[in-house]
Amino acid sequence: MTDQGSTRTRTERPTCPIPHDAHHPPAPSPTPTDPTEPAPAPRVGEAVDRAEARTFLDRFVRETKSPIDPDERWRRISDQIANTGTYTHTEAELGWGARVAWRNSARCIGRLYWNNLQVRDRRHVHRPDEVAAECAAHLRDTWREGHIRPTITVFAPDTPAGPQVRIWNEQLIRYAGYPLPDGTTVGDGRNIGMTRLAHRLGWRGAGTAFDVLPLLVEGADEILRCHPLPPDAIREIALTHPEQPGFAELDLRWHAVPAISNMRLEIGGVSYSAAPFNGWYMGTEIGARNLVDADRYDMLPAVAKLFALDTSSERTLWRDRALIELNRAVLHSFDLAGATITDHHTESARFLSHVRREADAGRECPADWSWIVPPVSGGLTPVYHRYYDDYDEATLRPAYVLDKAAVRRAGGQHP
Ligand code: ARG
Repeated sequence: MTDQGSTRTRTERPTCPIPHDAHHPPAPSPTPTDPTEPAPAPRVGEAVDRAEARTFLDRFVRETKSPIDPDERWRRISDQIANTGTYTHTEAELGWGARVAWRNSARCIGRLYWNNLQVRDRRHVHRPDEVAAECAAHLRDTWREGHIRPTITVFAPDTPAGPQVRIWNEQLIRYAGYPLPDGTTVGDGRNIGMTRLAHRLGWRGAGTAFDVLPLLVEGADEILRCHPLPPDAIREIALTHPEQPGFAELDLRWHAVPAISNMRLEIGGVSYSAAPFNGWYMGTEIGARNLVDADRYDMLPAVAKLFALDTSSERTLWRDRALIELNRAVLHSFDLAGATITDHHTESARFLSHVRREADAGRECPADWSWIVPPVSGGLTPVYHRYYDDYDEATLRPAYVLDKAAVRRAGGQHP
């Protein structure tokens, strides 16, 4: 895969990888690290928190009934931290850490399958072009002819000097957004900032409502590079309606795989800044938010028109009726394409099974009601009618963490 564009700004703006002027050739990539070797020595910054490392190790050993001797393992970890400021997880520790981070995700309704997360261990990869290629490989691996499998790719961990690699996009696949002079938007209004930044890096979208953005990857050299995804890594579902043939003319589609790419994975004091992960969609994410939010695709008026609904007053509930038709179209189209998708009724029941299983295992299940309850027909789902265990986001670990700076990057801004 070639760089679509890249810019080195280090000399003129030491901390800002966003280009402000002309394009420059890509800088030579740093040499990859060998995962069997101790992590590079700290240059600045802080060493891994030893207490966190120890707590994680003890939990790992206890919960997985690992046959390893924890004290011996701790001596090695402790030495490694003393020498390098960080330490290297075993594959088993990494796998369990990534899965439990999912289990700890209080906003996720789909956690019943937390223990089936496939972990692609790519800790030796941090060159931006290789990271981009591995992201494409991740998307191909998870697809499995539509039988989407929850998957994470873990890239090189941060050193005490900071991240070795960062993916700026919030998801591996997102659609560009182009503001028009009349105040409307072509594409996804959420991604206008990211689209602008990609343009500054030399990328040119076709200008359709569904142009897939390139990956923007920043290496340890603080250079941000633009890597278009190869088309065969991008699976999309064209939307049709089970009864209304005119629906296809709305020309709607969505990508099949939601792969979050800007959350940090934190395990035992080690931070993995680049660790994109995916599950499968719940229909309402697309049919009640992405295509519906007024600052996203805002499709309800067009759907209402297609179904000839009376939009003269809110009290006709035309929005609600259009919303249901749109959600039917999403589920119908994914089913037709053989792509995994869940509905909010099924997933709510599954989530309560998960909560029960966790209780049986003697664990609390952190959950954020406002995220767990689906945005359609909340009160019809069993997750609505109860409260959940309280939790402290700041201390719950392992975890996927969304930094404020990562949100700004995903908005195309330098943090
Ligand atoms: N809500 C986000 C989107 O619509 C995806 C978040 C993760 N969703 C999931 N089913 N794993 O793109």
